[in-house]
Amino acid sequence: MASLTIRKLDEAVKAYLRLRSASKGRSVEEEVRVILGELIRGHVHDQGQAEPAPALSAAQAAARPARPASTTGEVRITLIIGGGIAAYKALDLIRRLKERQIRVRCVLTGAATRFVTPLAAGALAGERAYTDLFDPESEFDAGHIRLARDCDLIVVAPATADLMAKMAQGHADDLASAILLAASRPILLAPAMNPMMWSNAATRRNAAQLARDGVAMVGPNAGEMAERGEAGVGRMAEPVEIADAAERFLRPPQPRPLSGKRVLITAGPTHEPIDPVRYIANRSSGKQGFAIAAAAQAAGADVTLISGPVELDEPHGVKVVHVESAREMLARVETALPADIAIFAAAVADWRVANEGGQKLKKTDAALPPLALVENPDILATISHLKERRPPLVIGFAAETEHLIDNAKAKLARKGCDWIVANDVSPATGVMGGDRNTVHLLARHGSRIDVDSWPVMTKEQVAVELIAHVAKNFPTG
Ligand code: C5P
Repeated sequence: MASLTIRKLDEAVKAYLRLRSASKGRSVEEEVRVILGELIRGHVHDQGQAEPAPALSAAQAAARPARPASTTGEVRITLIIGGGIAAYKALDLIRRLKERQIRVRCVLTGAATRFVTPLAAGALAGERAYTDLFDPESEFDAGHIRLARDCDLIVVAPATADLMAKMAQGHADDLASAILLAASRPILLAPAMNPMMWSNAATRRNAAQLARDGVAMVGPNAGEMAERGEAGVGRMAEPVEIADAAERFLRPPQPRPLSGKRVLITAGPTHEPIDPVRYIANRSSGKQGFAIAAAAQAAGADVTLISGPVELDEPHGVKVVHVESAREMLARVETALPADIAIFAAAVADWRVANEGGQKLKKTDAALPPLALVENPDILATISHLKERRPPLVIGFAAETEHLIDNAKAKLARKGCDWIVANDVSPATGVMGGDRNTVHLLARHGSRIDVDSWPVMTKEQVAVELIAHVAKNFPTG
């Protein structure tokens, strides 16, 4: 088959692939393979002719990074509950996984149903639990293959000595073992058994074989057994420990290049009061600034986001300060200093009403209200020109409707910042309030200005790319 040359792809496609692969921690080539795989699987599924791909060994499965089998970004676990007294803890494990926004599908072995009911597992998971390899309802479309493949990770908790022995030998005489044999995803076991069973030579051999096959394990821990007077190694790891281990598979820690750096971001519009009920505003949604805050936080930075009035959820892990007017925004920015990097994405109103009314202005037949405008402080220019406490990297935005690059170059010089992100906001682009953005990054190096034009991207992608540039260029010395 002809090999695909990434270099020959369209620039916009390459930029998309770079972002998507970086966010998943994969190479661009790997990402292309994943996308093609998803496409083909989706297509075959649509045709109703699903032909399962050849099964991978557990070692092969474990060797590949956990990757979303879903195209929606949702992460999914098939949880196999083995038949041991620790099965009751699997119910708590379902809750711990759901808390982490992980979709859980439960499979119970026959023995497990003696300890917990499929009804309880299904109710906690929010979807039916599976028990039977010969269930006509799910097996008409090879349900055990689907349960093995339509997930990102298979967790076995509790993994009994018997289930481990079956896995090590490749048995497939019930639904749980058939799924484990058909698995193409990583497998995580949480063994639980009596200490004598755990230390038995047969279990030692099986555990060693499973480790060689690439199966991961969490626990067992040392402690008291359910059986009175028994103690030793064999207690199942606690549900939180298992959920943590599963999450490390599903969401491996991302590189945090801005760890320890303080990033200050402004976002959204400002509201400039006319009287107690009216104000001057603009159409900024705040989406771009919020996306930058989220990307900086994901890169490990300590982020303070100073936002005008917006209707957006606060990004996780970001300190958000809500303000109304430009003057308030400047005051909160000054309080938030010092910072290593300041990014001014807010659409600050240029003017405010000089003679703001203390009472609601009355509509009279006599005359229009005597509104006088005065200029607002320029927050970006003020911070860029600070003698002390100027952040080492100051980035502004230039939203223009014409002569984009020339205007942005002039703005870079006038405001005294280091970089400007220039974007065309003429109404036809739909940028104001929309989800996509086409930007040019202008960077000042002494008297030289470099212009880097990016293809059209979502605002989240612009944010990730901008933060990647910051991380690459930030003077860390
Ligand atoms: O002058 P203009 O509004 O086009 O400049 C845009 C840049 O300046 C943006 O980075 C914006 O956040 C910032 N700005 C500011 N304070 C103002 C006006 C603009 O920080 N009063």
